Amino acid sequence: MSLAGKHVLLIVAGGIAAFKALELIRLLRREGCEVTPVLTAGGAQFVTALSLQALTESRVYCDLFSLTDESEMGHIQLSRAADLVVVAPASADLLAKMAAGIADDLASTLLLATDKRVLVAPAMNVRMWQHPATVANMGILLARDVAVVGPEVGPMACNEFGPGRLAEPPQIRDAIAALLAPLPAPLAGRRALVTSGPTHEPIDPVRYIANRSSGRQGHAIAAALADLGATVTLVSGPVAIPDPAGVAVHHVETAQQMLAACEAALPVDVAVCAAAVADWRVADATNHKLKKAPGAAPPALVLVPNPDILATLSAAGPRRPRLVVGFAAETDALQHHAAEKLRRKGCDWIVANDVGGGSGIMGGTENEVLLVTAAGIEPWPRLRKEAVARRLAQRIAEALT
Ligand code: C5P
Repeated sequence: MSLAGKHVLLIVAGGIAAFKALELIRLLRREGCEVTPVLTAGGAQFVTALSLQALTESRVYCDLFSLTDESEMGHIQLSRAADLVVVAPASADLLAKMAAGIADDLASTLLLATDKRVLVAPAMNVRMWQHPATVANMGILLARDVAVVGPEVGPMACNEFGPGRLAEPPQIRDAIAALLAPLPAPLAGRRALVTSGPTHEPIDPVRYIANRSSGRQGHAIAAALADLGATVTLVSGPVAIPDPAGVAVHHVETAQQMLAACEAALPVDVAVCAAAVADWRVADATNHKLKKAPGAAPPALVLVPNPDILATLSAAGPRRPRLVVGFAAETDALQHHAAEKLRRKGCDWIVANDVGGGSGIMGGTENEVLLVTAAGIEPWPRLRKEAVARRLAQRIAEALT
């Protein structure tokens, strides 16, 4: 695929291989790819800002606290204006900062602030690459969906031999092209419904019953299905995150409103119920604020069950989606509860996760799930919620085609 019109933010970190970044820039520029260079203090020991500027025909960004850079383009914007962030060469030090979330210079701050995919091309001494600290850091980065090219095996500048050489520029160019290639659209022409977020069940006009769901997982699934070409309706409870791009979003508050919006979205090919729907609502929510009367007993709330949206969609007769996927957030006996939920709700798959104390999953950015289907139970590694969403969307595409 051609890179014409694409925009890469290229971070050049320290290392003898930094000179190869110049060749990479020439390859990218020859294809009409815009390159914005960022040079770390270590990188500047090996290549000059002047050569980067000459080859990219762009200004070179070096300082985190540069007043001119901040007034022209803040570092948050800089990290997001590109289609892809590439770190070549990626030093052991910068990989460690990425894994730990340290942001103490411009490059590491951009890497923490970006909302784009990141490709790293590591280059370092073989022992540094094989050190358990670097191995652990790479494990963390891979789990976060950071893409990696290289390193190559070969003789090194330090007279040792082994893995650690920066991948050759054409190989890095191809990795960039693969990441920027339009995704195949196996779900083109398919319709998907996703529920996400918590529901708010009113007690009175100012109080409500809610839960800790952030909507991150459900929103990421809606985005991932849209990325694969599906026409997606997302029915979202109240959340503090933005609507995903390319998805029709219906904002609701209560479980009853969520069910009505879901039924209105039918027919669909697949429904994914990721919302944490309140199981109960207050039977007689008042339209005036409950008052504290001195000496009076606190009000007793009478709860009644909410409709089960997942079970309703699974039993929708001729309007039933071909594939219905539910979630099971449990604090114990995960497999047992998930398998039981699959039967009870009548859905096809359950994505089960442990939300027990300390897992950090509910409201967090990562998830570790089991995919439970009629064929068995598949444990997935701990991944960012976006990566779980991509995997699930891919599996849905395979099931529907
Ligand atoms: O029964 P439980 O709440 O554990 O089931 C979780 C699954 O059921 C999730 O997929 C959730 O979105 C769905 N659900 C629903 N409507 C409810 C309760 C749960 O769709 N009222």
